[in-house]
Amino acid sequence: MTEQFKMDAPATERRLDDMAQGLVGAPLDRPEGALKVTGTATYANEWQIEGMVHGVMVRAPGNSGRVVLSNREAVAKMPGVLSVIQDDRLLRNPAQGTANKAPVQGAQHATYLGQLIAIVVAESFEQARHAAQALKVTLENGEMVPVDPATAAVEPQEDQTLDQGNLDGAMSEAKHSVDVVYTTPSHSSSPMEPHASIASWEGEDLTLRASYQMLKYNRNELADSLRIHPDRVRIISPYVGGGFGSKLGLAPEAVAAAIAAKELGRPVSVALHRQQVYEATMRRSETRQRLRLAADSDGRLSGFGHDARVSNLPGETFAEPVLQASHFLYAGANRKMSLELARLHRLCAGSVRAPGEAVGVTVVENAMDELAHEVGIDPVELRLRNIPEKDPESVKDYSSRRFREALQSGAEIFGWAKRPGVKERRDGEWLIGYGMASAARINALMESQARVTLLPDGTARVETDMTDIGTGTYAILGQIAGDMLGLPRDKVDVILGDTNLPPAAGSGGSWGASSSGTSVYIACEAIRRQLADRLDVNEHDLMLKDARATYANQTKALTDVLQGDEIAKLGHVLPGETSDAVRQATFGAYFAEVAVHAASGETRVRRMHGSFAAGRILNAKTARSQCLGGMTFGIGMALTEELTFDPRDGHVVNHNLAEYHIPVNADVPQLTVELLEERDDWASPLQAKGIGELGICGAAAAITNAIYNATGVRVRNYPATLDKVI
Ligand code: MOS
Repeated sequence: MTEQFKMDAPATERRLDDMAQGLVGAPLDRPEGALKVTGTATYANEWQIEGMVHGVMVRAPGNSGRVVLSNREAVAKMPGVLSVIQDDRLLRNPAQGTANKAPVQGAQHATYLGQLIAIVVAESFEQARHAAQALKVTLENGEMVPVDPATAAVEPQEDQTLDQGNLDGAMSEAKHSVDVVYTTPSHSSSPMEPHASIASWEGEDLTLRASYQMLKYNRNELADSLRIHPDRVRIISPYVGGGFGSKLGLAPEAVAAAIAAKELGRPVSVALHRQQVYEATMRRSETRQRLRLAADSDGRLSGFGHDARVSNLPGETFAEPVLQASHFLYAGANRKMSLELARLHRLCAGSVRAPGEAVGVTVVENAMDELAHEVGIDPVELRLRNIPEKDPESVKDYSSRRFREALQSGAEIFGWAKRPGVKERRDGEWLIGYGMASAARINALMESQARVTLLPDGTARVETDMTDIGTGTYAILGQIAGDMLGLPRDKVDVILGDTNLPPAAGSGGSWGASSSGTSVYIACEAIRRQLADRLDVNEHDLMLKDARATYANQTKALTDVLQGDEIAKLGHVLPGETSDAVRQATFGAYFAEVAVHAASGETRVRRMHGSFAAGRILNAKTARSQCLGGMTFGIGMALTEELTFDPRDGHVVNHNLAEYHIPVNADVPQLTVELLEERDDWASPLQAKGIGELGICGAAAAITNAIYNATGVRVRNYPATLDKVI
């Protein structure tokens, strides 16, 4: 039986606050954690399937032209080689929409360097790799095509354009103003686990063991690419070794494995190697952002302008939504915003770690820092003065917003009051600076389903195709079901990552926990009602704890209530009117102390603090970990992270973890996180909002603002490598 719930009105019942078990919110460990660190969790490439053979993908050596495999026959005869496949379905555009889509082009025509255009399959991986390296790929009739954002054709994104009041007028009349241009480079998601798929067919039914974030969408994408019905496709993905957006949509290996397995009648395993992950999955677009801020003598904003340019491949619709938080973060009656998309023959741009805000809020926060110095007030105070009462464009209320508290509490915890003036503090050869920035990220609830079964032995099972990409889904769904059903955490079995299970929202856009958690909550409520019926009591008078039901001065073991029966309910949540009725977002503040070497310009982050508010915290440990991860990526974005393209052909130059510098332990100092609890009735019946990506949205600006405080140098082109600082 399905319990459907549409989020059409605020969900004001705070039942998770009163649950006797007290699991929700507790900092419980991830139940799959031990499996992962002991090597017993099976990742996509680790399945051993009877008769399995191996495929290695082959890349285009240039960014335009018809693909010709000139020695295909010879390669096909190499030892162990079973097939050399060049198929137009390899990279076809899936019609089913997700945030990310596979590149639109087929395999016959290259549109970017590194595009995966063929697959070589052999008995062993080594034979396949050897043959793939021997395959000669040439591009016929290729011309030079634009790879440089400065010279590419540009398309305005009309739906992102805003012109409210008169920004030019506000700028010219302003007592203080800032008009600055910043750039951020392309980023790569860089998950530890490369994209990998094992495809096996039984007749017309395909099973794909893979590593993806949003299985119900991935299933549709795969079916579309193969031109078969989604019912024929099963995807299994119980453990995901990081995705960071690059596994929201299908990567090329999934379709290639499926096509090869079908042709050969044998299971085919395809893993992208590290270079291919960098060259052929997703990049975050580079951005060029102009910020115009107009303020009065007190620093109160009269104008707010944000114009951005991003890029993508021709035909792709995704445009990094850089302006997303600019619409609701700060006041300013005169507002102007625009986004334009440059068409570049570089690999496909898509969602990477908080698309939009990660780079958009960062640059807004740099501009706000510049304004604070213009006005001559404390940067925290500047933010406090510009927190709008209502959404400055839609004039809607905010669903919940402990933004002010995050700024104030974060400043207190960090010791912001002791901040030095510009270039004022020194520690030996190191220049010391403090910086801060705000955090903001949109919140969304997505359709999601889960089945919860209370079993006759007094344990429960939660089943959904939701994924856990290292974020804590296994833990959180068990906590919610445990509390709702009065079961200790270890009496709840959470089964995820299989499209044979009810379709969930998937892990993306920070909506995973609140959406899938709500579907579990709804199913559990229905089970509670059925238990109450059996006991002839009002469900609200039923207390469930330690696998016992207590009501009207009686207590009974759940096993006795069930009497050999099981109760199974399907919870189904749909976003409804509350998503549009109010402005829903999460907020926070970062504070950083940096040391910049006076001679070399090397920057070390000495400490960093974040205070965040994201509704109800479902698990204090996993939520904190998400924030730590976000701030860590913020350090990378500020100081080192940059996907570098050869300006002649768009070749990704630093295509591995050795040269694409995301922070390692030695780069990350003590980070502290404060979580400010909220109850957001508009967001979900859990009163939870998404916290997954909040910790990166603006984090880099706290560091670059601290570099300014230390050195007096504004680095407006990210990352702030030492050559730019000194
Ligand atoms: Mo996220 S970039 O939606 O995985």
